[in-house]
Amino acid sequence: MEVIETRAQLKQWRGKVHGSVGFVPTMGALHEGHLSLVRRSLAENPWTVVSIFVNPRQFGPQEDYHRYPRTLETDLRLLQNLGVSASFVPSVEEMYSSEDEAYISLTRLSRLWCGSYRLGHFDGVALVLTKLFHLVMPARAYFGEKDFQQVRIVEKMVEELFFPLEVVRVPTVREPDGLAMSSRNMYLSPSGRAQAIALYKVLQYIQTLVPKTGLVSDLLREGEAYLRERFPEVRLEYLAIVDEYSLQPIEHLRQSSHPRALIAAYVEGVRLIDNLPLIYPEESE
Ligand code: PAJ
Repeated sequence: MEVIETRAQLKQWRGKVHGSVGFVPTMGALHEGHLSLVRRSLAENPWTVVSIFVNPRQFGPQEDYHRYPRTLETDLRLLQNLGVSASFVPSVEEMYSSEDEAYISLTRLSRLWCGSYRLGHFDGVALVLTKLFHLVMPARAYFGEKDFQQVRIVEKMVEELFFPLEVVRVPTVREPDGLAMSSRNMYLSPSGRAQAIALYKVLQYIQTLVPKTGLVSDLLREGEAYLRERFPEVRLEYLAIVDEYSLQPIEHLRQSSHPRALIAAYVEGVRLIDNLPLIYPEESE
């Protein structure tokens, strides 16, 4: 595996390869969730590039940019063992200059849900991905459904800005108890880790109610009550049921062919997210 640190080196590498390049952008601290994206790219492309870059532009001033886990050596070993062709590990200076003015924003999708609590977050994601896509020039780019709003934003950006690549969605990889894998899980103490299961549990609980009601206000009220009673230490940021294409809230599950429940919550001050497609049987109600 080539470990590439500069744009110039990447350009040189990219000029030499022929055939489709699969691209997996990450912020490192790699876990099985990331690796499932890498495996999918390796299966679908003769070349796979993985970037590891903790992107300062997508963190708010009060967020965890400085303490975000950085485990570069282990990450590179994992990627090397999987058979990745090249990793791109640029410095902040390589990606941004103090004179940068460019700003990429989706005026609707980026401002919903996580975007309304993490102001500017998705604009930072869109900007770094625009830069990375131009440098890597992939045929396919791989994103996890774990960050569902992110993957929708990337799909919309690629479509609207005519990026010549396909966005591939990869299902969420979970721990055996259902907790969605995340680099941020390593901030949790053992008791926090036990509480963190709340996010997936409440999504599953909502799914069990669906055959009884498709009315979203009922589902959300019951879900919130479940969280308060069983997981009093978890601080809910939002719980929503949306159409998975527009990410707009719906009032009744039958309003969407693909309804999805989204959640963000704090456990021991660590912000966690999860989501689940809701299966609404035709004959309900
Ligand atoms: P990061 O959080 O490192 O995630 C990199 C990719 O791995 C994302 O597409 C994310 O959805 C996916 N991923 C994370 N946990 C997953 C899980 N449990 N199952 C499946 N996929 C999972 O997301 C980012 O980095 C950044 O915003 C980035 C896109 C790299 C832009 O900076």
